[in-house]
Amino acid sequence: MTDRLRKICAHLRAVPVLADVGCDHGYMAKYALENGLCERVYVTDVSRESLKKAETLLAEEITAGRCKSVCCDGLDGVPERCDSVLIAGMGGEEIIHILRELPAHFVLQPMKNAEKLRRYLVGRGAKILTDITFFAGKYYHLVAGEGQGGDKYSPLEFLFGRDNLKRPSEDFAGYLKAEIEKMKSYSCEKMNAEARAEHERRLAQYLEVLHGTQKNL
Ligand SMILES: C[S@@+](CC[C@H](N)C(=O)[O-])C[C@H]1O[C@@H](n2cnc3c(N)ncnc32)[C@H](O)[C@@H]1O
Repeated sequence: MTDRLRKICAHLRAVPVLADVGCDHGYMAKYALENGLCERVYVTDVSRESLKKAETLLAEEITAGRCKSVCCDGLDGVPERCDSVLIAGMGGEEIIHILRELPAHFVLQPMKNAEKLRRYLVGRGAKILTDITFFAGKYYHLVAGEGQGGDKYSPLEFLFGRDNLKRPSEDFAGYLKAEIEKMKSYSCEKMNAEARAEHERRLAQYLEVLHGTQKNL
């Protein structure tokens, strides 16, 4: 298991039935079974080739009936409602497409469009329990919560993640610094006035959030 996968799995909760959607290698499903985080697990992947890796890793669990593999889009081929859904390593828009119905519990690690995903989840009545940025070779966002319960987010919380703002971490500060460096390296010369103003506004916003984060570390 890589550092990223371990950090994601730390947010799983013990449930009867888990789904690892876009499982690829299947390491997280294996970890969940071995650590008593689920009694049964569905591993799904839209790619037959990817799913094969999980089927090889989880061969014993499949034979024992503790794991079922399904080659499908998202949860489309899963024949029951799972108590918790894990989706990691996919874009936020793909995750939104998969979560047409919100599960009782979810752990999501979007590769991009985290803001859009937070807005979707809160808009659909989810309760966000964890919303962090962590470092595991690169910076990753993680959003975990419950499908019901409702929540209120400010525009800044949608953009940066609520826990990052309320409980600043070294990882979040590192993420902001990396984003600021990226922004500073953009060449503004070819931007029109509007794009340049937007670029400057965004840079100033990130600098302000970094300042607040460092003050509270
Ligand atoms: C980058 S891998 C991530 C694997 C693993 N979840 C992780 O975090 O390491 C993304 C996987 O999601 C699968 N995938 C992409 N879109 C999917 C969808 N709509 N439904 C199921 N699997 C999907 C891909 O085939 C690929 O195996």
